Amino acid sequence: MVRQVTGKIIAMEGIDGSGKSTQTRLVAHTLSSYGYKVNVTSEPTDGPTGTEVRERYLSGKEKIDPMGLQRKFTEDRMWHMAQCAPLVSAGNIVLTDRYYPSSVAYGYASINENGAADRILEMNVKAVPRPDMICVFDISPELAIKRLEGRNGKVEIFEKRSTLEKVREGYRVYFPPDCNTVWIDATRRIDEITGIAVSAIMKMLRKDDPH
Ligand code: ADP
Ligand code: TYD
Repeated sequence: MVRQVTGKIIAMEGIDGSGKSTQTRLVAHTLSSYGYKVNVTSEPTDGPTGTEVRERYLSGKEKIDPMGLQRKFTEDRMWHMAQCAPLVSAGNIVLTDRYYPSSVAYGYASINENGAADRILEMNVKAVPRPDMICVFDISPELAIKRLEGRNGKVEIFEKRSTLEKVREGYRVYFPPDCNTVWIDATRRIDEITGIAVSAIMKMLRKDDPH
């Protein structure tokens, strides 16, 4: 049976290595098995600006000022949401591995200027839809970095302990737990975390579409 809901955008958030990508995939799989129509997507995207951001700036090959970088992420996000709009209109649940809370939290951590994170939030609220729900996968930078070291591949510009500590603080300051934001202990077992996230999402779905 296909379960019909009003389209949703759910942001999967947390510091690098918190397990977002793992959970985005597993949560989508579980919700699909319950009959929901789910799409998985991520930022930075594979679109023109997302590719530029990854190849030029996240790699450390070229420098950009930190506000300029978050503007680039926002430009990529507008492209992203143009792709997602038909899916949301068709009643799908779009699970995105990062959304604008990432710009706010990473901007908070990297821009040494009063009010910068407020401006990033404001710019995004004007540019793209508000997420129906934000799941923050919360973990210490120490454990997240251990996990990243166990994962093959490149280290990107933000993957330092002190930076990730500040990013975690940025999430806390701007996205405290309430009905729109759930904070999930990301140090638990993978399957336990999936269970907690799925329950929270289903609670939100039932509240929004009670029939
Ligand atoms: P992110 O997308 O937040 O950077 P990933 O989902 O890629 O994080 O996870 C980073 C690494 O940690 C991967 O190797 C993944 O298999 C592992 N991992 C994810 N969740 C857990 C967990 N709950 N316990 C232990 N290892 C985990
Ligand atoms: P990440 O999720 O690691 O993407 P990928 O696996 O494709 O490299 O995101 C890359 C980095 O970009 C990560 O350190 C977080 C940062 N970031 C921002 O600073 N602002 C944003 O708006 C987004 C989406 C990501």
